Parts: sequence; C-alpha cells; structure tokens
Amino acid sequence: MPSVFIKTYGCQMNERDSEAVAAQLVAKGYSLAKSEAMADVVLLNTCSVRDMAERKALNKMANMIGIAKKERPNQVFGFMGCMAQSRGQELVDKLPDVDLVVGTQKFHRTADYLDEILAGRREKIVDTAAEEKSEAAIREHLLNGNAQTSVSAFVSIMQGCNQYCTFCIVPYTRGEERSRTIDDIVAECRDLVSRGVKEITLLGQIVTSYGKRGVGRADLPVSQGSAPIQTPPILPNAGTTSPSPPRSGGEGRGEVVLRAQGEGHSKKSPFVQLLDAVHAIDGLERIRFTSPHPKGYGDDLVEAYARLPKLCESAHLPVQSGSDRLLKIMHRGYTRERFLGIIEKLRRAKPGIGLSTDIIVGFPGETEEDFEQTLSIAREVEFDQAYIFKYSPRRDTPAADMEGQLPTAVKEERNERLLRLVNEIAARNYEKLVNTQVQILVEGPSKKNPARMMGRTRCNKIVVFDGSERHRGQIMDVKITRAGSFTLYGDPAILE
Ligand code: 5AD
Repeated sequence: MPSVFIKTYGCQMNERDSEAVAAQLVAKGYSLAKSEAMADVVLLNTCSVRDMAERKALNKMANMIGIAKKERPNQVFGFMGCMAQSRGQELVDKLPDVDLVVGTQKFHRTADYLDEILAGRREKIVDTAAEEKSEAAIREHLLNGNAQTSVSAFVSIMQGCNQYCTFCIVPYTRGEERSRTIDDIVAECRDLVSRGVKEITLLGQIVTSYGKRGVGRADLPVSQGSAPIQTPPILPNAGTTSPSPPRSGGEGRGEVVLRAQGEGHSKKSPFVQLLDAVHAIDGLERIRFTSPHPKGYGDDLVEAYARLPKLCESAHLPVQSGSDRLLKIMHRGYTRERFLGIIEKLRRAKPGIGLSTDIIVGFPGETEEDFEQTLSIAREVEFDQAYIFKYSPRRDTPAADMEGQLPTAVKEERNERLLRLVNEIAARNYEKLVNTQVQILVEGPSKKNPARMMGRTRCNKIVVFDGSERHRGQIMDVKITRAGSFTLYGDPAILE
C-alpha cells in the first residue's frame, strides 16, 4: 500500500484534522512516511489566518513539485484545509501538478479520493462543497502508534464560526457553527481514555458557542428528555447517535437545552453541560479546552473551574486588543472592562490560574493610543503567554478594505514592544515558581532534549525533568529548580 506524509500548518484544529485524516488512511492500509521524500502521497493541511501561512504552504508545494518532477514523477500531491477551502480550483490553476484539493468539510473523503487518484480512475479532484454532519467526521485518532501511549488527546467538538470578526477569514473557510452531540463527543472521549489517554482538550473555533446553533440542521447537540445531563446516555457506537426531531425554529439552542434540563440546571450553557458530561468519565484525569470567546464566557463556565476538579486551571482567552474603540471595529462583542471582569472572576475562582491570549497589533487605524491600551491590558492581566500577530489583510474580510492600513514597519515595531513586555512579565512570573512544588502530567520525552522527559502543570506550563519512559502518563509532583523561557525545570519530588 502507498505511504503518505501530511504536513500541517496553523492551529490545533488543523493538527487534529491532520491526525484524523492520517488515522483514516492508516485504517485503509496506508503507511505513514517519515518525510515527504519517502512518501508516495504528500498532503499539506493549510492555514489561511495570515498571508504568511498561505505563502509558506504555496512555496512548499511548488518546491516539492519541482523536486518530484526530477526524482519522483509518480508522487501525488494534495492541499487540504482552510486555504484549500478558500481557494479551491484556483490552487490547481496555479499549480497544475497538484492532484487533490479537499476543503474543510471533506477531510473524511481524503482516503477515498486518494484511492481513486492512485488507481488512475480520476486524474484530479477538487472538492470544497459543504457537507451535512461533517462536524462529526473528525473522530479517528492515531495515538502515537509505535506502542507508545499518547497521554493527551484533542477532541473536536464543533466546526465553524459565526462571530465574523472583521479581521478573520475563519467563518469563510470553516463555515457556519455546527456542534456535535454530547453523546457523540463523550463516546469518543471514553474510547480515548480506555486506550490510555489521561488528558483531553476539547477543541473548537469558539467553544463557548458550543451547541448554541446549527447542529447538523436537524438534530440537537445535547441529550434531550428528562435524563440529567450529568449522566448523558452513552451510545455503544459513536457513529449512531439517534437523531432528535427537527427544530421548530428560533435561534436558541441554549433555550432548547434549558427546557430539557428541568429545575436546577437552567443556567448551564451547552458547553458547560458538555464539560460536566466529559468530567464524569472514569479514568480521565484532566480536561482542557480551546478557544473560548470572552463574549460567551458566562458565570457558569467560571464556576465550572471551581466545581470540576479535572478541569485544569488554565485558560486561553483571546483579547485581540485592549482598546474599546478597536474591539468594536473588530466586531469582538465585548469591552475591555468585560474582559478584565472575566479575568478577575477566574482568578477569584482559581487563584494562580494560567492565562494565555491572542493579540493582533497593527489593525487598520490602530493609533498609538489604541496600542498603549493593548500594552496596558497586557500589564494589567499579566498573561503567562501571549501569541502576538501582526495584522494581515485577508480576502473577503471587512478589515482588509478599511482605511488606515498600517505600514509593515509600524506593525513590526508594535509587535516587538508588546513581545518585550509580555516576555518580561512572563519571565518574572515563571521565576516566582522556582522552589515551588507543582503537579505535572508526564507526556513523553522533551522535544528539545529527548534524553529528558516533559510534562505540563495544571496551569499549562511545560516542565522538563530527568526521568524515563516509565514516567509517561504519570501524574507527579515536581519541585521547580529553574525557570527558562516559557519552560520550567524540575526535580521529581517523589520518584517511584
Ligand atoms: N491578521 C493577523 N492575525 C489574525 N488572527 C486572525 N486573523 C488575523 C489576521 N487577519 C489571529 C487572531 C486569532 C489567531 C488565531 O490569529 O489573534 O485569535
């Protein structure tokens, strides 16, 4: 059988999609190649969020095709994911040697399409059409193979985004929000736990919108009827969740859930109901999720941190800007005050909670005063980690046509100033952890130094220590001896 190599650009959702496609291909008998040079099929899973990500993938593909022409004439090439979705046929027009283009609702068709191309039945396939229920098609896991247990796994709970931030291409590449059912998600999580997974990260573009709308059009995201949501009916087969009756109209997925909940649950959003259901899985040790949106960050979610011991005290909460004026133009749906209010509540519920964020610098019309507001929110919150992005105009997005596009030099300068501030604050706070004891879940060898092991604290900080394979999957207490750049070094307090 042929071998395949998948290279992934972009976010964790993309990583997860690639893993599911790889697992689907392995199930069909394909082997996974160690590099593109050794593969019969090379797939690039692409990102469109910034121009740079698109250019990288396009250049990579052009390079590989150039080499293949001389050395591997039969190699098959495909684009998947966000750029495949937004550019479709245009990609084949530009690079005629590309054989396959699969959009974001068609990942699960990749294996069949490759079969057809490799068997010579079809020469080229471009499929970017929408597909009902595609949100539930990202379910297979590789779990490392090689007889090594994966300790941590990602589970996709929904697809798409309805927020339409003016800078963001995602609603156009990922489509409308569609959520999987709680039963379906819990079944996948249970299966992972039975295979040794200890930590699950629930993934979605905006997880706080989970279950609020668009659930495959015809069914509901959450268990209905009188069954308490804490013990949702678990179906034996993840793929056969029985469809609920069609909606009678109206927006409120939340409302439907509330009616189905009965007394005492009326304040829980569908996402918190999902957290409750996943939390009930025996053997699961830790739960994380990414990304929530400040707009939908209700008190029920803050309370969940205090209430659910498996929910790790760490939150990635994208702020994008500290300026109310820009937040409005960005169409973010919250103010600086509201954002700070959430942070305050989270810290009250879980002092020491790990906090990370995304920030865009150089949005059109961003003044020095706006940027100062961003610096000041970074100072005020003291994020443990901030991912800073220079604004990149994206096709079809309103911000791309706004007046006041800033020169690259301004974006770079602001990027540097903010980065310096964030790093200073983080370094100070990481340093404070030296000599404290933290609990880590050991994931495996450290990427930078495979002779050492790495784990993560509940607050999502990486800890590297001298250990061995036998520590993989263990929850251990370690004493922090040293702090590096976004990494802690530790001594196991108790070595078994
Ligand atoms: N330019 C720069 N950064 C962007 N992001 C999204 N769209 C753009 C854009 N056009 C950033 C946001 C988002 C992260 C995933 O990427 O900060 O949270």
